[in-house]
Amino acid sequence: MVSELPNLPLKKLTNKQKNKSSKSRVSWSRTLLNPLGTSLSLHELDLLVNFISSKNIHLVGDEIYSGTVFSSPSFISIMEVLKNRNLMNTEISKRVHIVYSLSKDLGLPGFRIGAIYSNDEHVVSAATKMSSFGLVSSQTKHLLSEILSDQKFTKTYLSENRRRLKERHEMLVKGLKRYGIRCLENNSGLFCWVDLRHLLNTNTFEGEMELWKKIVYEVGLNISPGSSCHCGEPGWFRVCFANMSEETLDLAMQRVKSFVDSMAKQNNKNRHQQLMNRNSRRTKSLPKWVFELSFRQREVSADDR
Ligand SMILES: Cc1ncc(COP(=O)(O)O)c(C=O)c1O
Repeated sequence: MVSELPNLPLKKLTNKQKNKSSKSRVSWSRTLLNPLGTSLSLHELDLLVNFISSKNIHLVGDEIYSGTVFSSPSFISIMEVLKNRNLMNTEISKRVHIVYSLSKDLGLPGFRIGAIYSNDEHVVSAATKMSSFGLVSSQTKHLLSEILSDQKFTKTYLSENRRRLKERHEMLVKGLKRYGIRCLENNSGLFCWVDLRHLLNTNTFEGEMELWKKIVYEVGLNISPGSSCHCGEPGWFRVCFANMSEETLDLAMQRVKSFVDSMAKQNNKNRHQQLMNRNSRRTKSLPKWVFELSFRQREVSADDR
């Protein structure tokens, strides 16, 4: 698996702000990164707090995937960092806000239930007023209060969910590895960041879209191209593994295998054809002495070695 984590683009962001004299006042951080599925370390969260403090801006921590961390390091909330640094009830803590929803951890996207946690009274007041535009039905509230007040159930549910995510993640990563496909090492989320750069026809975002279309239409799998998640390098894809049964994932893996095999066969055929074309072009266009020279050159180089 690939283990390098992308650097936090804080410096880049600051430079961008300077260059464009941007009026941006908010830094948005998914403390469990979608699409990478990696949690931020204490050090990275510390850097974020330093950053917003020095730039006098707000930080919105999206902790929607906090319950999906299936292996270490465990999830650290941005609030814990403030607490550790004795920054609670300070001016900085008023500029840190958390958003959360039950869509991922409880698998309840249809319920449209979320929360905003903030120490800033203006933010809380505005959010309270806005909430009247998306009122939750009484039936939903009743059902949820029944579920969430059953602490034994919620505890078991979350740990069982994490166990199954870990299992399914391993199944995907190990399976892809067998077919020569690498994944970014991740410890959370419902997806994996998969490296398909070697399957691109051209190392461009057009090449990525071409490959994506092939995978959708020919293989029957819908995975997200990296460009849709603003990835700067073509050939990366986000693969969700959590919204299907084990049998479906197994079938998907079989299809990936046939696809990789057919791509390898096609590439060999193309390479063979290219070689043949090159050789016949050479034979037609190059004079005899070139071959002699190149042959001698090769011999000399071989002797040199
Ligand atoms: C990081 C992140 N935040 C927020 C959301 C929105 O979730 P919802 O509107 O279902 O609560 C998503 C959904 O994909 C997400 O990935």
